[in-house]
Amino acid sequence: MKPLSKAASEVRASTTLAIDSLAKKLKSEGADIIGFGAGEPDFQTPDNIRAAGIKAIEKGLTKYTPAAGTESLRKAVCKRLKEDCGLEYDPSEIVVASGAKHNVFVSLVALTNPGDEIILPSPYWVTYYEAVKMAGGVPVIVDADEKAGFKITARQLEDAVSDKTKALILNNPSNPTGMLYSRKELEAIAEVCKKHDLYVISDEIYYKLVYDGKEFVSFASLSEDARERTIVINGVSKTYAMTGWRIGYTASNKQLAKIMGNYLSHSTSAPSTISQYAAEEALLGDQSSVEEMRKVFEKRRNHIVARVNAIDGVSCIVPDGAFYIMMNVEKLVGKTIAGTYIKDGDDFAMALLEKGGVAVVPCSGFGAPNYVRWTYAASMEDIDEGMNRLEKFIKGIEK
Ligand SMILES: Cc1ncc(COP(=O)(O)O)c(C=O)c1O
Repeated sequence: MKPLSKAASEVRASTTLAIDSLAKKLKSEGADIIGFGAGEPDFQTPDNIRAAGIKAIEKGLTKYTPAAGTESLRKAVCKRLKEDCGLEYDPSEIVVASGAKHNVFVSLVALTNPGDEIILPSPYWVTYYEAVKMAGGVPVIVDADEKAGFKITARQLEDAVSDKTKALILNNPSNPTGMLYSRKELEAIAEVCKKHDLYVISDEIYYKLVYDGKEFVSFASLSEDARERTIVINGVSKTYAMTGWRIGYTASNKQLAKIMGNYLSHSTSAPSTISQYAAEEALLGDQSSVEEMRKVFEKRRNHIVARVNAIDGVSCIVPDGAFYIMMNVEKLVGKTIAGTYIKDGDDFAMALLEKGGVAVVPCSGFGAPNYVRWTYAASMEDIDEGMNRLEKFIKGIEK
């Protein structure tokens, strides 16, 4: 048979989903596993939002909508962006898709010509790397190590720019690091983007999950110039515990919005109509559950960070937002634990799953081979049990 698409064959499976499905398989075989892999809130979607979905079905709102989403949902997005981020957009500049992940992909398709370079600060969300390649672009990695708070500087960005650079993907707050850029840092980055005429895909999906009273700044709100060159990515998945409803959106200039809407109209068409009505309620209805969930996440973050840093051999810095910690396992590299020789974070994660009964995500796919990611979208009891198991597992180091 003739060979399949080279580009499609090169796409790697998501490491996040891979470890999650292995954990589920072991669990179904009777193993006692606690999962810290999946990137989704452990809360239920708030009642008012679920009721809006049910109401949409009862009212028979079950037909196609415009490809870029209903006018009323796009208006609701504009209202939320204005109130929360100080952004002014017209509904014609909003494109709703089947999850923010799809918005990321469609944004890249809209921007990328074959061979265009897209700059990715590392550690990066694994999907960016694959999506850049799927769109015909070339990912260019800029390392942001732990000492730099996992953040790149404007200087590093400038050094990575070539005459082929088309865009920067910024994830703020970040998955997997949880770090947040300050206004000053963003302004310096925006200057470089202006100077070299770069687009910015600013993924702000964790914007409501920020701790210690820190300020979240939307990249597009920095200046008129930043607004013109930015595609803001956001959605309801993380903020409203709606991962399964599959609603994300972009805010961008009109020309980009039109291209993305056209592309969607020939690929997925609009997302589920029922989910769109539920998302509208999420954006317009009572927002108190958002703050309640944020507070719970902040408590859990404080707890998990303290527990990790009390264990010899591993450490993590304090993340500003999202619901992940990056645990550094560098000191365990070259050791043998419970019969497994650890040569990197991947080996560590696999051994911790198989011998320690804890599922975490190895960060090689995120560009950080000596780290594993824990989500603290888990109950305090599970976090404690996970930490107890980690402690016991590490005590199994063979001398
Ligand atoms: C940084 C980032 N962007 C986007 C998404 C995707 O969100 P959605 O569920 O809306 O596709 C995720 C989900 O893990 C994420 O971590």
